[in-house]
Amino acid sequence: MMKQLPLLLLFSLLTGKLSACTHAVSRVIATEGTDAVLPCSPSTRVNLQDKLFDWKKVGQGGETLQEVFMYDSAVYYERNSGQSEQFKGRVSHFQTELKQGNASIIIRKTKVIDSGSYTCVFPRLQPRQEFCIELIVGASPEPYVTILEESKDRSLLQCLVRGAFPEPKVEWWDSSGNILPAAEPHVSKAGDSYDVILQTTVTKTDNYSCVATQEEINHQTKPAHIYVHLNGAATKPHVTILKTEDGLKVQCEILGASPKPLLQWKDSSGNIVPAAEPQVSERGGSYDLILQTTVTKTDNYHCVVTQEEINHRTEAEIYVSAQW
Ligand SMILES: *[C@@H]1O[C@H](CO)[C@@H](O)[C@H](O)[C@H]1NC(C)=O
Ligand SMILES: *[C@@H]1O[C@H](CO)[C@@H](O)[C@H](O)[C@H]1NC(C)=O
Repeated sequence: MMKQLPLLLLFSLLTGKLSACTHAVSRVIATEGTDAVLPCSPSTRVNLQDKLFDWKKVGQGGETLQEVFMYDSAVYYERNSGQSEQFKGRVSHFQTELKQGNASIIIRKTKVIDSGSYTCVFPRLQPRQEFCIELIVGASPEPYVTILEESKDRSLLQCLVRGAFPEPKVEWWDSSGNILPAAEPHVSKAGDSYDVILQTTVTKTDNYSCVATQEEINHQTKPAHIYVHLNGAATKPHVTILKTEDGLKVQCEILGASPKPLLQWKDSSGNIVPAAEPQVSERGGSYDLILQTTVTKTDNYHCVVTQEEINHRTEAEIYVSAQW
């Protein structure tokens, strides 16, 4: 036994394996608080009712960390004192499956700390058989977003994801789904899970979102939204076609702009399409405007939004077919 240890260590060093499973036969993913079945069956279908099998949780160097469960001809390990406290009262085998050679166990109410490599060993089978199973218990808290600092033309936003496992990738998105440049996330380990803080500075009025992704468990949180209202530079207007009794109308809508912008409809040659006065409403010093105009020919129409005071201009276009 003593001689095998350095060899095993050398092997882990050479292969650079972090996990004790050099050949994990399966990987099980569970969400914290749910039950997980760790599968195991010997390569030959033997009736296991009068056999012995032993489940252990193993460390990164292959050393045994904890006794999880032992079945020994109906003398459950749970009745011995050897079972780790962590697993007391949470693990059982499937009695009716033993005949089919099924040595799977179920771990109830999984915790993040249960994540890791497990071995399932049949020490008395000839030859001895051993299997390695990986368990990942994921915790996926939703992001929490705040504005840390705000000035006239920029805002420092913070996204906090607390108690996640595995380590999530955290991103800030704008309302069009573009990923925003951000500083390196600040990651700290709190017990078995991770706290991640990601900050970004934005300079435009928009509805921003923070999202946490955990690729290993194929999970993405719901986005957490935060609306940032900056110097009022208008965002792209929202343009639509309306069918009315008087014919076709195009509508241009802008929300939360300050100072009050000028809205104009133009045709594809840049000529202004005559329109009535826009509807204007004000809330907290910023303006919502709607400008409608009747169109009679097929064209690509542009709604141009201008805020001369802050030297800002944005536009959106819409194609109208007069055949409608
Ligand atoms: C072993 O039993 C468990 C629990 O009933 C089941 O989920 C699993 O599929 C079985 N495995 C095999 C190889 O039959
Ligand atoms: C931000 O966008 C989300 C998703 O589109 C929406 O549910 C939310 O109401 C928006 N928030 C504001 C303040 O506009």
